[in-house]
Amino acid sequence: MTQDFILDQILPIAPRLFSLIEQFKDQKVLVIGDLTLDEFLTGEVERVSREAPVLILRHEFTKQVPGGGANAIYNFAKLGAQVKAVGLVGQDSQAQVLVDIFLKSGIDVAGILVDPERPTVTKTRIAGHARQSVTQQIVRIDRKSDLPPGDALQNHLAEYISSQLANVTAVVCSDYGDGVLGRTVIESACNHPRVIVDAQKDLFRYQGATLFTPNLPEAEAEVGYSLNDLASLKRAGFDILRRTKAKEILITRGEDGMSLFNHANEDHLHIPAFNKREVFDVTGAGDTVVAALTLALCAGASTWEAAILGNLAASLVVRQFGTATTKPEELQHALSLLIEQATDSSN
Ligand SMILES: Nc1ncnc2c1ncn2[C@@H]1O[C@H](COP(=O)(O)OP(=O)(O)OP(=O)(O)O)[C@@H](O)[C@H]1O
Ligand SMILES: [Mg+2]
Repeated sequence: MTQDFILDQILPIAPRLFSLIEQFKDQKVLVIGDLTLDEFLTGEVERVSREAPVLILRHEFTKQVPGGGANAIYNFAKLGAQVKAVGLVGQDSQAQVLVDIFLKSGIDVAGILVDPERPTVTKTRIAGHARQSVTQQIVRIDRKSDLPPGDALQNHLAEYISSQLANVTAVVCSDYGDGVLGRTVIESACNHPRVIVDAQKDLFRYQGATLFTPNLPEAEAEVGYSLNDLASLKRAGFDILRRTKAKEILITRGEDGMSLFNHANEDHLHIPAFNKREVFDVTGAGDTVVAALTLALCAGASTWEAAILGNLAASLVVRQFGTATTKPEELQHALSLLIEQATDSSN
């Protein structure tokens, strides 16, 4: 599908898209995620150490931002939604940092439980630069446990989720494979009528979910064959729908945009990426898609309209370095520009 074609389709529904964005702030969602803290430590190279053949950096700054499922949660909050976060952190200082960031953004953290057995998943990048030179990453240190959370903790998460289902219009599972989304948690989440799943693998575990949003490699891993043309992509979309019994699946395809498959009418639609020119960092773009898409659905959008807004939100975050978020005002501005473009090309 060409860019012009999609712009022609957006033009008539533009007022509706603006109004959907306007309603993001009224939406209440529960987001269950594998929480990560992304840390960036940067310094200037001073000299080579005498202790070992390594560089000594003079610390300049530390940046700490939500990552993994925490980035998904953060994206919801920045888009204006009322978010209840569910997940696990360790008994450590990283947990405090993450919870503080959430609290400052108005996120309800009552569903974030402390797991004393496992650390807060933390990815620390150490980067250095010579004077007046570019910064480059030297090493990354990951803190995580390979063990699943204990049964009692998983039951507590599931109980909390069950107690909140009536208070939200969507449940989102942001599964980065770190263990929060075990069987009991998934079962309690899938009791909600609208469950959106962004999971890295084994999508069939989410029986009863409404919509899946895998990226291309995740969809490939799920079906076990390569998706190298539109025919195989379509086959995979419907294969996953059959396997999960979901209503719809949105496969995000990086620079090729996204494709939506619907079980009921056996239909599929492709949406090209809206911004291919100013792309600096695509990390976390999928989290942004899920957030904008879900909020649009909660506000009453069709899945196609919601996917358009997800795609638009992604086109904004890929312009920023690192994982990023966007706000309703920025989305509205981007939509205005898109409409200008559509009006120009139709004249
Ligand atoms: N290189 C790119 N150029 C333009 N748009 C892009 C590019 N990469 C991603 N996007 C936009 O972001 C959306 C999501 O990207 P992608 O399919 O890479 O998700 P993802 O792999 O799940 O991301 P992550 O897991 O890092 O959050 C795409 O559907 C597209 O709209
Ligand atoms: Mg993703």
